[in-house]
Amino acid sequence: MNVNQAKDRIEELSMELEGHNHQYYVLSQPTISDFEFDQLLKELERLEEEFPLLALPNSPTKRVGGDITKKFASVVHDFPMLSLSNTYSKEEIIEWENRLKKIADGEIEFVCELKYDGVAIGIRYVDGVFNRAVTRGDGTRGEEVGANVKTIKSIPLQLREGDYPNDFEIRGEIFFPLQRFDALNEQREKDDEPKFANPRNTASGTLKMQDSSVVASRGLDCYLYGLYSKETLKDSHWGSIQAAGDWGFKIPDTNARMVEKMKDIEDIMDFIEYWDEHRHNLPFEIDGVVIKVNDYRQQDELGFTAKSPRWAIAYKFKSEEVTTVLESVTYQVGRTGAVTPVANLTPVLLAGTVVKRASLHNSDQIAELDLRIGDTVYVEKGGEIIPKVTAVDMSKRGLQVQPLEYISHCPECDTLLIRNEGEAKHYCPNDASCPPQIKGKMEHFISRKAMDIDGLGTETIDQLFESGLIKNSADLYHLTRSDLLPLERMAEKSVENMLAGLEASKEVPFERVLFSLGIRYVGETVAKTLARQYGSIEALRIASEEDLVEVDEIGERIAESVVEFFSREDNSKIVQSLMSSGLRFDIPEEERNQGTDILKGQAFVISGVFERHSRDELKSLIEQNGGKNTSSISSKTSYVLAGEGMGPSKKEKAEKLKVPIISESDFEAMLA
Ligand code: IVH
Repeated sequence: MNVNQAKDRIEELSMELEGHNHQYYVLSQPTISDFEFDQLLKELERLEEEFPLLALPNSPTKRVGGDITKKFASVVHDFPMLSLSNTYSKEEIIEWENRLKKIADGEIEFVCELKYDGVAIGIRYVDGVFNRAVTRGDGTRGEEVGANVKTIKSIPLQLREGDYPNDFEIRGEIFFPLQRFDALNEQREKDDEPKFANPRNTASGTLKMQDSSVVASRGLDCYLYGLYSKETLKDSHWGSIQAAGDWGFKIPDTNARMVEKMKDIEDIMDFIEYWDEHRHNLPFEIDGVVIKVNDYRQQDELGFTAKSPRWAIAYKFKSEEVTTVLESVTYQVGRTGAVTPVANLTPVLLAGTVVKRASLHNSDQIAELDLRIGDTVYVEKGGEIIPKVTAVDMSKRGLQVQPLEYISHCPECDTLLIRNEGEAKHYCPNDASCPPQIKGKMEHFISRKAMDIDGLGTETIDQLFESGLIKNSADLYHLTRSDLLPLERMAEKSVENMLAGLEASKEVPFERVLFSLGIRYVGETVAKTLARQYGSIEALRIASEEDLVEVDEIGERIAESVVEFFSREDNSKIVQSLMSSGLRFDIPEEERNQGTDILKGQAFVISGVFERHSRDELKSLIEQNGGKNTSSISSKTSYVLAGEGMGPSKKEKAEKLKVPIISESDFEAMLA
């Protein structure tokens, strides 16, 4: 293919793929299969790789992310990003409407729309092309998060044909669709990572992540609700929003009553009531409705107060609250031994779900609420997933209610609880034999970033523990077919998989085995450092605190924890047993001696896919030879080690900063 043919094909594919994105993410009407889409995307990626200079700046290949932003640029908004005045009262909406009638000329038409509960964004388009995306910040200045916003598939990178201004900004709300949010939390639970509290904060956090490919994988979405330009716009809010839909933006669906034009206060009230009742059926969260004057001329007439436009108001839904009876309080012990009191309630309907339990956080909160069994309590669903008890209805308290006494001993193992000074929670110190704590350790041991044992999950760990077959991680390696087959849900195939997974885990390198042991404060990176420094568990075991703090990046807290771990007999026994089962407790001699300092002082960025080595292998080779791995290209980067599929923007950046781009063979030659 010559350059001209490639240019034509790149343009054609970019247009076609953006068209399919629009069909799928904006209109929810895909016209080709995911497989066909991927084939086209791959073809475009190959062409952009071969002819990097021809890649369009807003190519659909950018949607998968990959650009890393270390620090987001601070940008002054062309139009200040104001907020809305809020009210929880319908009377105030009526008063607002009356006020407007007195100021504005002629009859007022309103547009009612949803108040999406997410993060505000302003996206600028120049000549129909995505130019930048800026967060609200302090209203005057925000952060440029364009690389991340580009991964949101319902946001067009190139507008469809239309009469849009040459330079304009469109504002909207980026949110986390509930299904994607739940799936993310499910995955985090499986991976032993703490769950996110609510979709709004998670959307906000995601938007500020440095790695745009992670943002792409999260599946954020966006509705647009306002147009700003120094050029002439349509003459009404409604007209602008409908036009934005034609240009390719995702706008609220009129058929689903997500947006409505109305003249009457009764219609406005009806819209509010409809959404107060139906909001839980939406696939995303809203926290109210917004009422706006439709006509731009009237909007100008009404103007602004210091903080918000007079022509718009938000009616916010009350965070839902119900009353029910507190039947009992039980106590949960987490993996770290932390105790959490849980209120067991008479089941009650709240925000569309039946609630039977609510969180009580800690003993101070129970005391503050002056809580007693049998009390009628207020339960609220705020931003968090788990509802909470907010107050007691004292008017309903009878004489018979029992004062609530906080437990003094662990409900799981009966050990006396401790409470460290300055901490709110009580802890069970018995980490050696308190069941949820040992189960927690084993769950960590098998998790993806630790031993990553195929065929073995959290539920199986529970089952094996309950049946008495395992008491610690080392016991896993003594399980036999005949132990496992009689267990419920353990078919022949699952037993085979699990045993094969355990066998395969004996090849897991020392640094991950060390991480799997669950030594307090020894996370992935510290485990790697210690493994490399000491080379074997024997050497690490006899290291003193003084030796340990000599190691780069190892502080006193870690040193103390490592020494304490090895001083305990139960831990030593587990390590001994794992060793005799054949797990790797040292770095093999060949690997240890491979190290040189050929690459000392050199910083590498690895990008793309390679023929002879995996990216992890290359990273290890760099480190073993004294070099450093970094994730984004800067003036400090010594080399970009590029394989197939290196992104065009990385290439551009390397060229701009004059950082040499080397191939896998160049790198091998360097080491030779
Ligand atoms: S219009 C002058 N419309 O609510 C402000 N805002 O305090 C014009 N929001 O963070 C904003 N849904 O991001 C408007 N349909 C909607 C909205 C909406 C959510 C957010 C907005 C801002 C806050 C306003």
